[in-house]
Amino acid sequence: MSSPSDPTQIQPRRFAASGPLRGRMRVPGDKSISHRALMFGALAVGETRITGLLEGEDVLATAAALRAMGATIDRQGQGEWTVRGVGVGALLQPETALDMGNSGTSTRLLMGLVASHPITATFVGDGSLSKRPMKRVMEPLSQMGASFTASPGDTLPATLRGLSPAVPIAYRLPVASAQVKSAVLLAGLNTAGITSVIEPVPTRDHTERMLKGFGADLWVEEENGERVIRLRGEAELRPQTIEVPGDPSSAAFFAVAALIVPGSEIVIENVGLNPTRAGLFTVLRQMGGTIVEGNLREVGGEPVADLRIAHSPLKGIEVDPALAPSMIDEFPVLFVAAAMAEGRTVTRGLEELRVKESDRLAVMAQALRTAGAHVSETEDGLTIDGTGGNLLPGGGPIATHLDHRIAMSMAVAGLASRSGVEVDDTRPIATSFPNFQPLLDGLSAQ
Ligand code: S3P
Repeated sequence: MSSPSDPTQIQPRRFAASGPLRGRMRVPGDKSISHRALMFGALAVGETRITGLLEGEDVLATAAALRAMGATIDRQGQGEWTVRGVGVGALLQPETALDMGNSGTSTRLLMGLVASHPITATFVGDGSLSKRPMKRVMEPLSQMGASFTASPGDTLPATLRGLSPAVPIAYRLPVASAQVKSAVLLAGLNTAGITSVIEPVPTRDHTERMLKGFGADLWVEEENGERVIRLRGEAELRPQTIEVPGDPSSAAFFAVAALIVPGSEIVIENVGLNPTRAGLFTVLRQMGGTIVEGNLREVGGEPVADLRIAHSPLKGIEVDPALAPSMIDEFPVLFVAAAMAEGRTVTRGLEELRVKESDRLAVMAQALRTAGAHVSETEDGLTIDGTGGNLLPGGGPIATHLDHRIAMSMAVAGLASRSGVEVDDTRPIATSFPNFQPLLDGLSAQ
């Protein structure tokens, strides 16, 4: 596989209409849960077994970093991994810089882990990750006693010197970020006393759910309309057997594809539907999408269902900004659905999209215009006038800026276009969804 850092190896591809999508499918394991399963396994004494692990580049970057700090991590089969942890407080000094590739989650959560260990680690990343803000984790972790030497603008490369014992803090999140919340809680694992995080707006709660499953003394309370998470350190984690549910953020691309390509009807099995993640499905239903949940059950402590999705005429809506945290990674593909809906879709409150793998407001506005859609960009959202179900003209090349979700979203747009959409580089897709293209080709062929 060629690495996105090698500019001579770009892999452009044209995505074009090829008839209805039909059949049953599964998407790979949830990325957020996969990172956490490896990290908590690395801190538990004994063997954690994981099935359904996402084997994307981001998660592999987490695995490599944890190995460099002493954990034994082995692949036993497709999605089947074992982790022999070192115990909270016993991570080792890595000998070389930790290469985080494209992955913000690896970087920010591992910074939390390192912050309360007596070790020094340098974090490096690709061109996209090296532009992303790290101040949001540097601030609380510095309050806990860690020190940082970062590149201008508080970016990578950055060196973190951890402190042990660290100081427990109570931290109110200034941005709705599960990564920042998790960084503080992970630092709290090796910190004596109570570390607390106050969330004015709830974000994905996989860290809380899974830490409890690993035996941490963690509790969540609602206080004055805010969510308060408290963790008692130093924690002792017990190894677990974890089944990772399918990633709703990956299912999102196929859900939108089935909704906008006439004649489609698919079933996506085993999709994680944690309420802090499932906002896209709510919004697509509000737009008129047929999405039916079946076989509701629990997998790995998370609600899961099989989703039956059929082509549906969509209507533009005003998307409730309060839903944003529960669908923060799904806006690029929602914008594609909006471009095919009848009437206007208005989104607001999305300034966080500007600091993802790319500036997803600017990049999607440009990409959709290139494909012939009518889009205007505001400071904190996009307003899109849809085609009412008519095919988009198509075009390209689309500049994806090393952002997997831009590449997959515009691939979906290509399926509903007259001349196809050319994506400049499909390699970033491997960070989160290595089998995206074969799965798409398989459904189109049925
Ligand atoms: C993630 C949190 C979100 C999300 C990212 C994964 C996580 O980031 O965009 O893809 O696993 O905690 P923020 O915390 O920056 O919102």
